[in-house]
Amino acid sequence: MKETLQRIKENALTAIRNTDTELEQIRIQYLGKKGELTSVLRGMGVLSPEERPIIGQLANEVRAEIEAALSEKAAMVNQKALEEKLKAEKIDVTLPTTVSRMGHLHPLTQVQRSIEDIFIGMGFSIAEGPEVEYDYYNFQALNIPENHPARDTQDTFYITDNILLRSQTSPVQVRTMEKQKPPIRVISPGRVYRSDAVDATHSPLFHQIEGLVVDKGITMSDFKGMMETFAQQFFGSDTKLRFRPHHFPFTEPSAEIDVSCFVCGGKGCRVCKNEGWIEILGAGMVHPFVLSNCGIDPNVYSGFAFGMGIERIAMKQYGIDDMRLLYENDVRFLEQF
Ligand code: DAH
Repeated sequence: MKETLQRIKENALTAIRNTDTELEQIRIQYLGKKGELTSVLRGMGVLSPEERPIIGQLANEVRAEIEAALSEKAAMVNQKALEEKLKAEKIDVTLPTTVSRMGHLHPLTQVQRSIEDIFIGMGFSIAEGPEVEYDYYNFQALNIPENHPARDTQDTFYITDNILLRSQTSPVQVRTMEKQKPPIRVISPGRVYRSDAVDATHSPLFHQIEGLVVDKGITMSDFKGMMETFAQQFFGSDTKLRFRPHHFPFTEPSAEIDVSCFVCGGKGCRVCKNEGWIEILGAGMVHPFVLSNCGIDPNVYSGFAFGMGIERIAMKQYGIDDMRLLYENDVRFLEQF
């Protein structure tokens, strides 16, 4: 029986040594309920009482050795599998990546942001207003009553009789003065809408930046000084301003303001259509009617306001001659800016 046990042990250990995958079968074959070692133990009844404990102990040792060999081999197999997995999943961080294309801000946004930056530098803050607006804010509070001819120049999308898509950013003036008492120094960029047919210089949706300053003792010369600072920072330090009398219902007096052409310096070129000047905005001293509409006493306070079209400025600055290019989102166009 000793020899049988010895043989079982050697066969088991050899089998374990020679496999990576069949450890469980080997365990069943030798140590299982119907395994070879178990059947030897079952046959111990024929042994003499002296032999029994000796063979019993030997059988236990054989079992322990086989078990130890099995678990040692299992640990080795696991370790090997882990190493192979790590090797297979290794990432080479030095490999070149696939380059993803970097975008940038739309030219209109770039222009808007640089205008904002200059005004923020002068102590202005940014105010926002709704694009779907009441007739009251877009027109009436700005001294443009029903049937006023100024409404014809801003062909408006109406949603109901008294709700519309704002045709200008000027309503934000009113909303700001209703909420905030002077001193007021705000700009308000945003989308405006007019029922215009699309062509090279018109779009039913475009962008403006409104400006409003209200305080005690504000005069036209404050506006001129501020405007000159803005124009020289934005268009270049040689830029000159030209004020032309104009009419807006919500300012008195009103003016349209031109800058000397930043391409030719005023000599006349394609960009300024040989005029030497480029119109950039409408402006004026806030009409007393508008101030008192907003609960601000025009005998105590005065202010100026201005509004400029962002598309116009972007087109002049970048030499874009068709407004539609700005909205088509063709990357071949946009990537030039
Ligand atoms: N809202 C005017 C427009 O769209 C532009 C404008 C003119 C704004 C004079 C002003 C202003 O604030 O004072 O044509």
